[in-house]
Amino acid sequence: MFSKATKEKASRSGYMLFARELLKHPRRVGAVCPCGHKLAQTMARKALKRADGLIVELGAGVGTITQAMQTIGVSNDRFVAVECSRIFATLLRDSFPDYTILHADAAHLETYFEPESVSVVISSLPFFSFPQSLRKSIIAQVENILAPDGRIIQYTYGMRSHPFIQAGFRCTGRSFVLRNIPPAMVLELSPPGAARKVVGQC
Ligand SMILES: C[S@@+](CC[C@H](N)C(=O)[O-])C[C@H]1O[C@@H](n2cnc3c(N)ncnc32)[C@H](O)[C@@H]1O
Repeated sequence: MFSKATKEKASRSGYMLFARELLKHPRRVGAVCPCGHKLAQTMARKALKRADGLIVELGAGVGTITQAMQTIGVSNDRFVAVECSRIFATLLRDSFPDYTILHADAAHLETYFEPESVSVVISSLPFFSFPQSLRKSIIAQVENILAPDGRIIQYTYGMRSHPFIQAGFRCTGRSFVLRNIPPAMVLELSPPGAARKVVGQC
């Protein structure tokens, strides 16, 4: 167990790394700060409610959601985090030695996961700041690795129609987390091929 002071120190150094990565790669990081604990908890709870199989986190950053997954008891054989920044991937490996952390691009998920092998994808990826070609590649890869009854839990700060929805994914749930900077919307999405009768609509 870590003491409160150790956790606070880790959190402060996470924020500093985040700020440095944001200055270097603003479009890739795509947010002014890591997500808050309330948002991370919401994402983790929704993922766990939906999944009894593999959970993949895309764009894990400094690990706020990864920490929430660990806190609610997601075991290491059911969780993989994917992060394209070497600095964040190193931080994640140091912070979560029991979890598999892939230093990889979400545009190449098929290299690491079998088709239809993933129950839930949790995504912090800032799609609105990506070029169209990257949005399309990542969405196609997610569709490929996700089980037909799988779910995506994506948070977003934009009020526009999300690229997953534009690509034919159906929104089956939506909630707002106001205690976050900035306030965020959490979308639950199912892949275009999922049976309509088992899926609600937003
Ligand atoms: C909004 S930040 C994530 C914040 C994270 N939830 C946290 O609390 O630290 C988006 C993250 O996505 C990562 N990212 C951006 N493009 C990516 C890609 N193509 N593949 C994997 N990760 C990517 C960035 O490096 C960044 O860590």
